[in-house]
Amino acid sequence: MERTIKILDHPLIQHKLSILRDKNTSTKDFRELVNEISMLMIYDATRDLPMEDICVETPCGTARCKIIAGRKLAFVPILRAGLGMVDGALNLVPSARVGHIGIYRDEQTLKPVEYYCKLPKDIGERDVFVTDPMLATGGSAVDAIRQIKLRCPKSIKFLCIIAAPEGLEALKKAHCDVDIYCAGLDDHLNEKGYIVPGLGDAGDRIYGTK
Ligand code: PRP
Ligand code: URA
Repeated sequence: MERTIKILDHPLIQHKLSILRDKNTSTKDFRELVNEISMLMIYDATRDLPMEDICVETPCGTARCKIIAGRKLAFVPILRAGLGMVDGALNLVPSARVGHIGIYRDEQTLKPVEYYCKLPKDIGERDVFVTDPMLATGGSAVDAIRQIKLRCPKSIKFLCIIAAPEGLEALKKAHCDVDIYCAGLDDHLNEKGYIVPGLGDAGDRIYGTK
């Protein structure tokens, strides 16, 4: 089966993304928008979950219904900014487990530096959704997914809000079996490795650290 690379052009996502990009959007609104966009992204990224038939007794008869066929999910945010996407995802899949991977980009080299990794014990039985709002050079996502693959999960999908062409290419090349979902594919990276036009530093804007 061919892997999915999808830009989510739903009007609700695009509308919220436009407000998110605005440099005048407050920290509180930014955080809420990241949550809302993540929820809508997870809605789309879970549309291929397998289902099974069941019968449910309603007050008026028997309904032939469908439920999700016992799939176990895990969300793995790349700290810090990816954590901002987890609440939205958990709103839709409250039973999912959450792992954490801590990676920051060295400001000079732009290379990823890993400082933390804690994943669910049974990740080998789970479909994993890795979250990070920004895919810039792709170094952080490529590294995080490499770490997760060491634990042999059933599948991996990567969800970001904005991708740069450079990051998308790097991720596609390094992990040809990972589905990629994003809300916006931007123009290029600037000399400091920031996505243009992007939205600035996602972690700083979520947590108000600048
Ligand atoms: C940001 C972002 C990604 C990474 C993307 O994190 O959240 O993890 O940069 O860049 P890349 O694709 O070039 O690797 P940052 O390094 O700012 O760390 P933070 O979330 O702790 O602020
Ligand atoms: N990390 C961010 O938070 N923003 C960018 O534009 C690039 C990397």
